[in-house]
Amino acid sequence: MTKKTVPFTKLQIEEIVKTYPTPFHIYDEKAMRDNAKKLYKAFTWVPGFKNYFAVKANPSPHLIKILKKEGMGVDCSSLTELIIAERLGFKGEEIMFTSNDTPAKDFKKAKELGAIINLDDITHIEFLEKAIGTLPQLLCFRYNPGPLRKNKGNVLIGKPEDAKYGLTKEQLLKAYKIAKEKGVKRFGLHTMIASNELDPNAFVETADMLFDLVIELSKKLGITFDFINLGGGIGVAYKPEQTPVGLEYVSKGIKKLYKEKIVKNKLDPLKIVMENGRMVTGPYGYLVTTVLHKKEIYKNYIGVDACMSNLMRPGMYGAYHHETILGKENKPKTHTYDVVGSLCENNDKFSVDRKLPKIEPGDVMVIHDTGAHGYSMGFQYNGKLRSAELLLKPNGKVEKIRRAETIDDYFATLDFSHI
Ligand SMILES: Cc1ncc(COP(=O)(O)O)c(C=O)c1O
Repeated sequence: MTKKTVPFTKLQIEEIVKTYPTPFHIYDEKAMRDNAKKLYKAFTWVPGFKNYFAVKANPSPHLIKILKKEGMGVDCSSLTELIIAERLGFKGEEIMFTSNDTPAKDFKKAKELGAIINLDDITHIEFLEKAIGTLPQLLCFRYNPGPLRKNKGNVLIGKPEDAKYGLTKEQLLKAYKIAKEKGVKRFGLHTMIASNELDPNAFVETADMLFDLVIELSKKLGITFDFINLGGGIGVAYKPEQTPVGLEYVSKGIKKLYKEKIVKNKLDPLKIVMENGRMVTGPYGYLVTTVLHKKEIYKNYIGVDACMSNLMRPGMYGAYHHETILGKENKPKTHTYDVVGSLCENNDKFSVDRKLPKIEPGDVMVIHDTGAHGYSMGFQYNGKLRSAELLLKPNGKVEKIRRAETIDDYFATLDFSHI
């Protein structure tokens, strides 16, 4: 069970709204830092453990800077994300570049920064060589186990055999051989087959799978692996009845296998790294929105001033995000509403048939767990503008870390003079 609370009072939000009108995302710095420390503490036994924060989850530079201070690297998937990393002072192997269908200019930037390049396909060896002149000394490949992990994956990431990512096992063998022949000296092995996974065993099984593969590849090809990357995917307990992943449990399970497989085969030290995004920022973000309208037709609707462009997950995958009406936390949930935004799309709903206390226009609703894949998935459909992002500091003060878009921002890419 996860008690869904908010780290601010109604009074505080009423004060904040005077300067920053709703809707906005607000992030809880202290809770985010505490969680990052917890993640690192769980894996202290791992030589060189690092979480490469998946920038796509929340590309807000202020937040990434906080995570850098907590020891995290960055997992970038595009040129823009690489530039964010560069501007925040990340260098070399603090950056993992995991992308797919990659343009040459992205590889060039990754090389310029000395990032660890993680290839998504066997044909990308040649593509990379052409793009950057020569292969880097350290190279990583992304493994897709396909039908070997039949029951893994979900709507977010695809079942391994249907997912567009990574190399097959046969291709991996060939790819590392080619890389070795072309002078690559250090190797990494990556996979990412879970997304929003709450079963801790899934991560232990993934480590097990990669340990076996490291053993096989090392023996067959005479190469040494620097690291394995278990990918991201540690889930968030979005629903109150869900339980967050027990990090200590995962760590203990992996440690046992590390001794049995890696140490026994004299393949240690082997770094184990991850690239979680969702669990790092997700639970520490809140979308704050004001109720504009109440509408009663065949169903009862609550219209808020945020919409799917502020948080796409419910409309896109039917994802659950908890809702709190500020000041009504302890009121009985006597009413059933669909909570909707104003897009001309009927799936622009934050919740369907949600039991909530009686709501009135003017009430402030907090939508929970919006710190990952929230703002970052935003868009401008229907001329909607992206909201501000605020940071709730450990001292209780609020800092604007991204201003809200203005109408001028919307028109900035257009030239009306020739129309
Ligand atoms: C390659 C890769 N790594 C890491 C992540 C982060 O996953 P999560 O935010 O679920 O931890 C993603 C998410 O899509 C991804 O595609």
